[in-house]
Amino acid sequence: MTVRHEPVLLQQSLEALQIRAAGIYVDCTLGGGGHAEPIVQRLSGDGLLIGLDQDAEAIARATRRLAPFGSRVRILQGNFRHVAALLHAAEVDRVDGILMDLGLSRDQLEATLGGFSFLRDAPLDMRMNRDASIPTAGDILNGADPKTLGKMLLEYGEEKRWRTIVRAVVKAREAAPIRTTRQLADLVTRALPGARRYKIHPATRTFQALRIAVNDELNALREGLQGAFHRLRPGGRLCVISFHSLEDRIVKHFFQALEKGCVCPPALPVCACGKTPSLRRVHRRPIVPSAAEVKRNPAARSARLRTGEKLSE
Ligand SMILES: C[S@@+](CC[C@H](N)C(=O)[O-])C[C@H]1O[C@@H](n2cnc3c(N)ncnc32)[C@H](O)[C@@H]1O
Repeated sequence: MTVRHEPVLLQQSLEALQIRAAGIYVDCTLGGGGHAEPIVQRLSGDGLLIGLDQDAEAIARATRRLAPFGSRVRILQGNFRHVAALLHAAEVDRVDGILMDLGLSRDQLEATLGGFSFLRDAPLDMRMNRDASIPTAGDILNGADPKTLGKMLLEYGEEKRWRTIVRAVVKAREAAPIRTTRQLADLVTRALPGARRYKIHPATRTFQALRIAVNDELNALREGLQGAFHRLRPGGRLCVISFHSLEDRIVKHFFQALEKGCVCPPALPVCACGKTPSLRRVHRRPIVPSAAEVKRNPAARSARLRTGEKLSE
């Protein structure tokens, strides 16, 4: 039996989007359509939901789920880092709301071919878009020099024991390439002293780092936020659900910079740049799931929702 991905912070994100029945909304991370479906249900025949995902399988699943809504839905395959251009190509100029629910869906985590999870033995792939001619996690792990590997573990995994892990990887790959998720998970567990007593699996941060590197996730997010903001009409809202501190920091800083407007050095007595705030943060602190949601869906535990409302261009 396949278990459907459960949408995270669903009510909170629907409220934050302030859906108008005749509005145009973009779900940049369509996944299984768990957020998209209730958005479309709130639209009239004049409204439109545009769903975007880079994973062909997610597109196929969401297309089936959203088929009953006919012309109220348009589905595009692509990376949200190109959202502005994708909307332009679809002849959509301004939109009323945009949602990004970052990371992976449960379907992707459980797909054996993806190689995202240390809980399932699979080839080390981790590409969300498997059509893309980009290096897999295995290519990076077996090919990158130790300095690059260390930087990746430190920056993308926030892994304090990066030196130990790099040493273990380099030693192992000298004997034979590391090909599977199980091999990597075992190698990290053996390398870290006391690893068995960790609260999370000792390879969690290594897997996070590789996944971010393979999919260039942080740069995609930075570019996606810019593109999404560009396409919002004034008054429109951008809602972002993130799952780890690296993503959340990028979203927070993006919103803060637009909210501040002025970019003059603090030493300047009066503003010389003339820039005014172009965004308002809808809530000062991120919205997090309730204890009941986390109990029902433990995958929601680190979710954080931030919402910005566009004031002007
Ligand atoms: C957490 S899931 C979304 C789940 C969805 N909200 C639901 O409830 O069914 C994230 C989805 O975003 C997609 N994704 C992640 N990064 C992306 C990017 N840069 N461009 C396009 N899609 C992306 C993934 O392929 C995945 O399907």
